[in-house]
Amino acid sequence: MSRAGVAFPEMQAPVIAAPMAGVSTPALVAAVDAAGGFGFLAGGYRRPPDLAQDIRRTRSLTDRPFGVNLFVPAPTDPRARGADAVEAVARYADRLAPEATRLGVRLPEPDWLDTDHWDAKLTLLADIDPVAVVSCTFGTPPAAAVNRLHAAGSCVAVTVTTPAEASAAAAAGADVLIVQGFEAGGHRGTHQVSEEPNELDHLALIPLVSDLNLPIVAAGGITTAGDTGRALAAGACAVQVGTAFLLTDEAGTSAAYRMGLTDPALRSVITRAFSGRPARGLGNRFALAYADAPPAFPQVDQLTKPLRAAAAAQGDLGAVSLWAGSGWRAAREEPAAAVVARLAEGHRVSRG
Ligand SMILES: Cc1cc2nc3c(=O)[nH]c(=O)nc-3n(C[C@H](O)[C@H](O)[C@H](O)COP(=O)(O)O)c2cc1C
Repeated sequence: MSRAGVAFPEMQAPVIAAPMAGVSTPALVAAVDAAGGFGFLAGGYRRPPDLAQDIRRTRSLTDRPFGVNLFVPAPTDPRARGADAVEAVARYADRLAPEATRLGVRLPEPDWLDTDHWDAKLTLLADIDPVAVVSCTFGTPPAAAVNRLHAAGSCVAVTVTTPAEASAAAAAGADVLIVQGFEAGGHRGTHQVSEEPNELDHLALIPLVSDLNLPIVAAGGITTAGDTGRALAAGACAVQVGTAFLLTDEAGTSAAYRMGLTDPALRSVITRAFSGRPARGLGNRFALAYADAPPAFPQVDQLTKPLRAAAAAQGDLGAVSLWAGSGWRAAREEPAAAVVARLAEGHRVSRG
């Protein structure tokens, strides 16, 4: 069996549906699995009981293996985030005050102890309800966490954007590298939030990490079978795709978000405006006006959450986050199975 087959059991088409916080659903995972691909639930931002329910619901829809994604938390001591992190977030809150007044919401106090429930989610996945693959983004999980997931029978994948991040992931015991290029939609998985991400695409990054001899999954801007073929030829065992699934029937993409994704006037930009982390999305008013938001995740995300929710409820597409990769114009309204079939055409997972 190929290493893709070991890492992603039962996958026939080398297409992984990326975990997408706020978009991934059990129905999307089950549909991608049924089409021969491999689906991921997005554990980031989910409360642990909701994630547990997502896992149970997915199991009720498919007998096939699937994965869960977690956000590796930032240090909870704000002093470890740079000398003026607290002041910078306070200044950003002041700057956003007119937006809050306009949308009729209150901005919350930043919570510096927010770990996105890392410990509880790890316990869920290691001790209560393990899944085939756990992927981690925004950092390298501690080796002890990787060991616990291994002991539960899970394969551990880590998103990397540089050779140094890939080496750290390998040293912590990762089984798979998800090599994410700058075309990728949503957050760039840079391990240091204050770092400006590089502009390397996945084809440039793959040879820079191949000496680690781990299976590589390529992510970013994949919208055609030709893209899949080029990633496989460069050394990837599969592709991880987000944006191409955004308009699918099974995705949890909100109505406002779907509408924004069909606006031909918007262009693709990278912005820290919504979360403090560099992320690629469509350049609406908010994304452009606050692109230089302070590099404090998840505190900036906490601040803008009520703004985004109110904007979506009021149909204000200028202030909702429209995460999408550079290939967003290729996204279509169709069943998820059609995306898997299109991207996998001519490519199978080899089990030689
Ligand atoms: C709406 C959206 C949400 C995302 N959320 C997550 C997430 O929760 N965890 C994660 O590891 N990656 C997340 N990503 C990034 C994907 O894992 C992947 O790197 C990216 O979608 C690949 O590029 P593409 O969108 O051009 O296909 C997200 C991407 C999008 C578009």
